[in-house]
Amino acid sequence: MEGRAVLKEKICVYPGSFDPITLGHLDIIQRAGNIFDQVIVAVAKNPSKNGGWMPVAKRKELIYSSCRHLKNISVDSFEGLLIDYMEEKKASVIIKGLRAVTDFESEFQMAQLNHQMKPTVETLFMMTSPQYAYISSSAVREIISFQGDVKELIPQVILEEVMNYRKNIT
Ligand code: COA
Repeated sequence: MEGRAVLKEKICVYPGSFDPITLGHLDIIQRAGNIFDQVIVAVAKNPSKNGGWMPVAKRKELIYSSCRHLKNISVDSFEGLLIDYMEEKKASVIIKGLRAVTDFESEFQMAQLNHQMKPTVETLFMMTSPQYAYISSSAVREIISFQGDVKELIPQVILEEVMNYRKNIT
């Protein structure tokens, strides 16, 4: 056949609350970026999390600052069903991180439901690197609320901003 084959760009979506982004999230973003042409980090406006600790716009800003050194990462937000967002972005792979067995049950359920609603969407899981397996955004928020040290838990470039953010809301 004449002509050049047009290779389709491999896009994945890494969804989450990212309230705030942690080193564990950044680990997954970097590794996904090594595999896919483009990684869209998508902040969910999740009504079940009561609006969250930080506004979505601030969370996006912090993700953007943390990923500035990475070439193929974009930051976005979405409302509603993840599969509808996947359709909008013409993406067919959802990336999720698994930290421990305890994550498995809920992640398995979400992956199955998403697959049932839209079979063309695949969820791929990456094991979180062991040094980050104990980190969660809620633990970060709690430590910060007691003025504890989170420098080993969140990206260095956003440390000052997150600590200042806390001071401004208390
Ligand atoms: N490193 C560090 N922490 C991690 C991590 C990693 N690699 N992976 C997950 N976590 C943490 C998160 O910070 C979060 O911590 P928190 O609960 O203390 O805030 C926790 O693990 C849960 O993460 P996750 O499972 O990604 O949940 P989430 O709340 O961040 O995001 C959505 C869940 C937004 C992806 C999901 O609710 C969704 O798709 N919503 C859209 C609506 C929809 O489509 N619903 C139908 C789905 S069945």
